[in-house]
Amino acid sequence: MASRIRTLEEYHAAYQQAAEHPDMYWGNVAEEFTWRKKWDTVRGGEFSPAGTSTWFEGATLNITENCLDRHLATRANKLAIIFEPNDPKDRHTRLTYRELHEQVCQMANVLLNNGVKKGDRVVIYMPMIPELAVTTLACARIGAVHSVVFAGFSASAIADRVNDAEASFVVTADGLNRGAKQIPVKSVVDDALLTCPSVRGVLVVEHTGWPVQMKEDRDIWFHDEVRNVAKACPAVEMAAEDPLFILYTSGSTGKPKGVVHTQAGYMVWAQYTFQNVFQVEENDIYWCTADIGWVTGHTYLLYGPLLSGSTSLLFEGVPTYPSPGRFWEVIDKHHVSIFYTAPTAIRSLMAAPLDHVLAYSLSSLRVLGSVGEPINEEAWHWYHQHVGKGRCPIVDTWWQTETGGIMISALAGITPSVPARAGLPLPGVQPVLLSQEGTELEGNDQEGYLAIKASWPGVIRTTWGDHERARQVYFQPYPGYYFTGDGARRDEQGLYRIIGRVDDVINVSGHRFGTAEIESAINESPDVVESAVVGYPHDVKGQGIYAYVICRNGLPDNDLDRQRVEGSIIEAVVAHIGRIAKPDKIQLVSGLPKTRSGKIMRRILRKVAEGETSNLGDTTTLLDPLVVEEIVAGKK
Ligand code: WT7
Repeated sequence: MASRIRTLEEYHAAYQQAAEHPDMYWGNVAEEFTWRKKWDTVRGGEFSPAGTSTWFEGATLNITENCLDRHLATRANKLAIIFEPNDPKDRHTRLTYRELHEQVCQMANVLLNNGVKKGDRVVIYMPMIPELAVTTLACARIGAVHSVVFAGFSASAIADRVNDAEASFVVTADGLNRGAKQIPVKSVVDDALLTCPSVRGVLVVEHTGWPVQMKEDRDIWFHDEVRNVAKACPAVEMAAEDPLFILYTSGSTGKPKGVVHTQAGYMVWAQYTFQNVFQVEENDIYWCTADIGWVTGHTYLLYGPLLSGSTSLLFEGVPTYPSPGRFWEVIDKHHVSIFYTAPTAIRSLMAAPLDHVLAYSLSSLRVLGSVGEPINEEAWHWYHQHVGKGRCPIVDTWWQTETGGIMISALAGITPSVPARAGLPLPGVQPVLLSQEGTELEGNDQEGYLAIKASWPGVIRTTWGDHERARQVYFQPYPGYYFTGDGARRDEQGLYRIIGRVDDVINVSGHRFGTAEIESAINESPDVVESAVVGYPHDVKGQGIYAYVICRNGLPDNDLDRQRVEGSIIEAVVAHIGRIAKPDKIQLVSGLPKTRSGKIMRRILRKVAEGETSNLGDTTTLLDPLVVEEIVAGKK
């Protein structure tokens, strides 16, 4: 196959060809897919600053024909999905490609019967169960744009996303078990939809059996609907640049933005990166622990593996339930050969007694992956030694919601895998390091802003409903480049090391939040006048959330009051974003360090949160330098 890289020489050749003759290179790769009609041009539009890249324009296709139908001739009885439930005492289930195809068709027919049409937006808020995968693919089958919202976000966060996308339909379940936690997801959706006039229907999948309220003329049970539908559903013909999905992600300003990916380029990028990075073989059992509600779940649990005809494990639970041995137990139970998880999960399991991992053989493992944040050396070595038993290459994969798929990473066993380095760019990816002024820093042993110099098939196409925003955030800051928001270092060997965000975005357990987004949630508390949020190093989460808050009624003078105010701050964050964005530390203050022009000096707040109070730099430009002394004295 044109796209498959198996040696270091092939990597270098592919890299060079993709850089020098991208139309030829990606045209060849695209030949491996099923098209209704082939493309007129491979690459088009203007990459930057307009941010109007197109890929395979003129082509028509349906991505689910590539994920499902095309495998039926040779892989009908191969497992597509293995489902491992939250509770190990419950039975796991398996779906072959034939069964998954049938279920997707049935779900697609249910959606069609309920008026969902090509181009409509469908918000999906579900537990990690096979129906989540099925619903997402069913949308793609009929050309509806899916927007999966992680089922940990609050009602108000769902409402923001539904309204921004003007979604007409929501798919959810009765309830969700995640570890020992239980979430009544249907009632969260009910709360959200109080402020969502665009939604006409809600489809509910029965999962936990908990009682729910069904709203007349709006809510329907999947098990009632599915009885009346055919087991086949023709796939809708989509244009290459029709939107496939919207996925909301945080930026440094304002509300989360709806990152839009389209049909053809995303498909090609998902399959190409999946197969090459993990060096997938026909009999692999592949497990990505991410939730489908994040981009990692979209590209590397769902689309990448299914496009490749692989077997993908879908796990409902969490790493530590019912014990910190759960991941390792699941690997042995299902003979997982490729395992892809996040540094935060590794660090939380490292903290448990080693017996939990030593109790399992893990002999099926062949390749290990890491994603979402920099993996520290200690975690890398633990993963390599205790999970991979020293024989599995680790791929540390750097990418973003906006890039659609992996951009910088080792190809397992082929290109160098060094602790704390993402490594070399994939063919088609041209990373550069820029100075603050935007000049390219040439040569190795350099550090700067990470940007990408040319279009690649998975590049973000727009932010939903607001192309100007996409242009301003990604393509305008350094015209001619896509700006990542990350800082990076190119070492002596030319390997990239990702340092972290250079904007006001923090990465908590591999999840992205804008500091402004958390501040505006905190400010919703009636007890709060103003707040400032920064990240600080956290042993397990990578970064923790540190909030400095000015109270409406002055600093509380007793513990009871303090607890009440802190409780109301946490409540505001849980209500407006979700439990996942809860501050780890709250410091109540009487003022924030501001410049004379009123700008909060976050640099100082960051230093204090990091515990580096001896070197706060120049504070003479502050309006009220005494505020800093108070903050240092009260550090949490
Ligand atoms: C941000 C993107 C990529 C899918 C999951 C997160 C950070 C991601 C790595 C890595 C260092 C990483 C970056 C990036 N990040 N992977 N291997 N090493 N940092 O997607 O929510 O869009 O976040 O995550 O800071 O910009 P996301």
